[in-house]
Amino acid sequence: MGQSVGLQVDPGRDEPIYRQIFDQVVRRIQSRAFPPGYKLPPSRTLARELAAHRNTVARAYADLEAAGFVSSTVGRGTFVTVPPASATPKAPALEPHRGTVPWAQLFSRAARTESLSRAERYARRPETRDVINLARMQPSEDLLPSELIARCIDRVMSEHGARALTYAPPEGVHRLREEIAKDLADRGVPANADDILITSGSQQALDLLARALVNPGDTILVDETTYSGAIDLFSLAGARLVSVPSDAQGPDLAALARFSRPDVKALYLMPNGHNPTGLFVSAERRRALVAWSQSSGIPIIEDDYAAGLVLDETEAAPYLRALDGDVIHLSSFSKRLIPALRVGFIVCPQALRGTLGSMKRVMDLGASAIIQHALAEFMERGYLRAHMHRLLPEYRLRRDTLEQALTLALPSTMRFRRPSHGVVIWLPLPTGMDPDALYDEALRQGVLLLPNAMWSVDGRAQPGVRLTFCAETAPRLAEGARRLGKAIKILSGLRPKKGRAESPVIEAV
Ligand SMILES: Cc1ncc(COP(=O)(O)O)c(C=O)c1O
Repeated sequence: MGQSVGLQVDPGRDEPIYRQIFDQVVRRIQSRAFPPGYKLPPSRTLARELAAHRNTVARAYADLEAAGFVSSTVGRGTFVTVPPASATPKAPALEPHRGTVPWAQLFSRAARTESLSRAERYARRPETRDVINLARMQPSEDLLPSELIARCIDRVMSEHGARALTYAPPEGVHRLREEIAKDLADRGVPANADDILITSGSQQALDLLARALVNPGDTILVDETTYSGAIDLFSLAGARLVSVPSDAQGPDLAALARFSRPDVKALYLMPNGHNPTGLFVSAERRRALVAWSQSSGIPIIEDDYAAGLVLDETEAAPYLRALDGDVIHLSSFSKRLIPALRVGFIVCPQALRGTLGSMKRVMDLGASAIIQHALAEFMERGYLRAHMHRLLPEYRLRRDTLEQALTLALPSTMRFRRPSHGVVIWLPLPTGMDPDALYDEALRQGVLLLPNAMWSVDGRAQPGVRLTFCAETAPRLAEGARRLGKAIKILSGLRPKKGRAESPVIEAV
């Protein structure tokens, strides 16, 4: 005999019928089918017509009244109170505006930085053709846990009601900060809830840091090729970006040793699966970087945007923040969970935290309370751990598929590194091949990628293109690699082979 598992459901709730009544009445009010003063049918009559319980109809009417659409008077009935949306808006029809303000002269120097126009050049355009997107860096829709997050939002509303709709504390909702502290501790980063500042995406964490640390003309050290969003924000703050070369282990220490000057405010790094190069900084180099930071007094910003996206456990190293409490650690839920949450966070030294918290308050009065509660609920229920169990094998499959397909499709002279963390493969280009020309040719062939102009600080880095493997399914990644191979062969003046290339011709390094 089956054993009870102790689940509790509410058998009295006729939810679909309740929703239909509520939604249809609202729609008819909006469409003027039910004008102001219109009398709704008595709940008893409607319940009979719909074969529903009378309480269900009464509850829908009560909620329509609470929402302000109708009003009820005992003995008279329920009447529509809200006028429909105006059919003739008061504003005149929009005509082309010929203004007199000289806008181009008014823009600040920051708004005219070169990096903003660079971002525009490669910004996503609506595509009518079937273009395989190896540029987008977010999970494909099939990997977004929409049902689970909807359940958490519902739960937050039923548990907290209107309280979840007020402003959150500027430093973030406490229960979410507690969950993040536990998640960090699991990955070897010591943190308490009070050490954590919630931000609107980790992009805002970078913005806060740029504003808090940079005076115009100050230097920020970055990799030769680095995250475009960081280049943009540090540039907007007036920073001079100075690039530090890297070898296969990470940033070059001899080059760093030359930068121990008071105008240098920070070294910005992504040690755990670099965007865009995919590089993972070795454990030994991490210790050396921390030693450099301690002796120079220059803090390190550790951007862990791809937190938890560990594809190969064999390549492991402690977080910089675990090695040194002066490291500023920032991270996000965009790549491992849902970009639309816009939840990121900073863990930083006490001396900086208060300032960042005050700046955050000034900038946006705090991140969304309801979303923070929903994310906390998601983590408390163990959904995030389960989600990672589903996500990681899929990302491994996608990486392996793209890697193998590239191996088949590219000329044998082209080599690339297999990433152990994150969601990108960096493809260095042969000398003389223009990444922008490849971007254009690849698009003609039906595959979108991003060329290194997006991430280049001073044009010294080796040309390359970034290929993401998170936003498309494995079969489409394989087709994308084939199209890219064709584009490269056209640009190299080689005739692309018909059909599938034969044996594997390159070794992934
Ligand atoms: C390296 C890096 N840092 C930070 C971000 C910002 O992401 P979000 O604001 O969605 O957390 C991104 C986004 O792609 C990124 O690649």
